[in-house]
Amino acid sequence: MKNINKKILITGGAGFIGANLCVALISRGYKVIVIDNLSSGKKENLHKDVKFFKIDINDKKVNNIFKKEKPNIVFHLAAQKSISKSIENPIADARINLLGLLNIFNNCVDNKVEKIIYTSSGGAIYSSPKKIPTKEGDLESPLSPYGVSKLAGEKYLESYHANFKIPFVSLRLSNVYGPLQNKDGETGVIATLLQKILSNSKFFEIYGDGSQTRDYVFVDDVVNALILSMQNNISGCFNIGTGRETNVNQLFKKIKELCDSKIIDKKNSLLNGGQKRSCLDCSKAKKILHWKPKFVLEEGLIKTINWFLKQK
Ligand SMILES: NC(=O)c1ccc[n+]([C@@H]2O[C@H](COP(=O)([O-])OP(=O)(O)OC[C@H]3O[C@@H](n4cnc5c(N)ncnc54)[C@H](O)[C@@H]3O)[C@@H](O)[C@H]2O)c1
Repeated sequence: MKNINKKILITGGAGFIGANLCVALISRGYKVIVIDNLSSGKKENLHKDVKFFKIDINDKKVNNIFKKEKPNIVFHLAAQKSISKSIENPIADARINLLGLLNIFNNCVDNKVEKIIYTSSGGAIYSSPKKIPTKEGDLESPLSPYGVSKLAGEKYLESYHANFKIPFVSLRLSNVYGPLQNKDGETGVIATLLQKILSNSKFFEIYGDGSQTRDYVFVDDVVNALILSMQNNISGCFNIGTGRETNVNQLFKKIKELCDSKIIDKKNSLLNGGQKRSCLDCSKAKKILHWKPKFVLEEGLIKTINWFLKQK
């Protein structure tokens, strides 16, 4: 399926991961269409050659876009991705992450899309992993409504695959970081810390004691996994991370050193640092998708810091 004549539709293409994916696909010669309501994404993130439709994924008029553009492949990335917002308002979360998703998947079926690629969340799905690094077969036990909606998205894909024979890949991403990451809102510790350093803040507040670990994966590695996922007829769910744990204290120290910053960390035991440990075993993606991460943390951080510096 390595045919560059294929038309690709990306929902959420103006967001962090989506906009990086657009650039990579366009540089490979694909025609790219983006659907995004710009709720967290930005128009300036979009490559000039993207055909852009500012529209909500719940909008009925999405049908007209599918009918007119006839995409071959759909990447469904648009989502409400804040865990805390999903807990405050699970109905609003479900409206986007479930009803919006179904509107997109129904259009994929009606318009004979060849494959759907979906971005799920390893961190939100395996909330109490039995083993670290965690494999796909581990207990899927989401605690937040966001995690529930991400897992439900996968279950819908399995159902559409069984009923309508539409191939799919769901990538269970770990914590993604890199250029174009939005600094506002619940975006991740790396973007928030870099923002603080670049605005010369004196302190950086660490949730809990900073010993909580995450698996930080660079966005170019994620984009590579997304592209590999569309180039075959394989269906299934795959972890995408690095298999390496880094705790917030280590991350803080590393970024502080790389930026040559004097920022001071302030631990706030009243703030919940979330899950104690999170790290993904990606051997299934290595074996089946022939994917592996190319960037070690320091390399990815340097690229990210340089991008943030350019924006300043
Ligand atoms: N960033 C991560 O670390 C991470 C980890 C696991 C999973 N994911 C998943 O990857 C996907 C992309 O994440 P991201 O970090 O690029 O997020 P993002 O917020 O930067 O991008 C999401 C995009 O979807 C758009 N969008 C949201 N609601 C919409 C709606 N109703 N209609 C149309 N467009 C809408 C936003 O405007 C934004 O451009 C999401 O599905 C997220 O759940 C991300």
